[in-house]
Amino acid sequence: MLEALLPSFSIPENRLTEKHDLNPEDIFSAPCAQYWMEIGFGSGEHISSLMRRHPDYGWIGAEPFINGVAALLKDISPDFEAGQPCNLRLLNDDAMRIALSLQEKTLDGIYILNPDPWPKKRHNNRRIVNPLNLDVFAKIIKSGGALILSTDVPDLADWMIMHTSTHPAFEWTAKTAQDWRTPPPDWIPTRYEVKKARHGEQMCYLFFVRK
Ligand SMILES: C[S@@+](CC[C@H](N)C(=O)[O-])C[C@H]1O[C@@H](n2cnc3c(N)ncnc32)[C@H](O)[C@@H]1O
Repeated sequence: MLEALLPSFSIPENRLTEKHDLNPEDIFSAPCAQYWMEIGFGSGEHISSLMRRHPDYGWIGAEPFINGVAALLKDISPDFEAGQPCNLRLLNDDAMRIALSLQEKTLDGIYILNPDPWPKKRHNNRRIVNPLNLDVFAKIIKSGGALILSTDVPDLADWMIMHTSTHPAFEWTAKTAQDWRTPPPDWIPTRYEVKKARHGEQMCYLFFVRK
């Protein structure tokens, strides 16, 4: 999968300048209706389902875990071989390399689902949702666009709510507890989420709008 298919979906290294000069239009074969990114897609079941649901959107995924990238490629290979639209571009590395390369206000939204919790206090700043990275997400998401986060780790949920809702560029859409306890009807559960649900963990679904 990695040898045969990954090259067709990889974002070219020379486009990852980390200088906010990458127009997502330039890495897809034709202009797309919207552009979305999923950071840390794990085995990729969420991004591949969305790709099939919205074949006219451009989907950008980043995941350093090589087995996850291979699993996603295996999932989409029948679509690709059948000539179905596979509007997906991948990076097998740190998502911030893409985020720092994308031009301002070019993404319609970002998903970060069940990010690593880094539970030790002294490691909290390694969390992907942190003040510095939020500045970068604020730069690349269009006004009215979405930052969608989820977790079942209470301390991480508190952290993400605190940092994102106090960031001047983002507004939390939740009005009642029900809004963060229940996913929207069309939500696609990730592998991690399904595993946790078996142990009865409460998921938090956090939807923020780019002001
Ligand atoms: C707990 S797993 C969740 C995977 C998936 N989102 C899910 O819900 O099943 C967190 C994932 O984030 C990935 N990750 C960690 N740091 C990352 C980074 N800087 N850029 C992209 N992915 C990252 C990890 O490799 C891991 O697969």
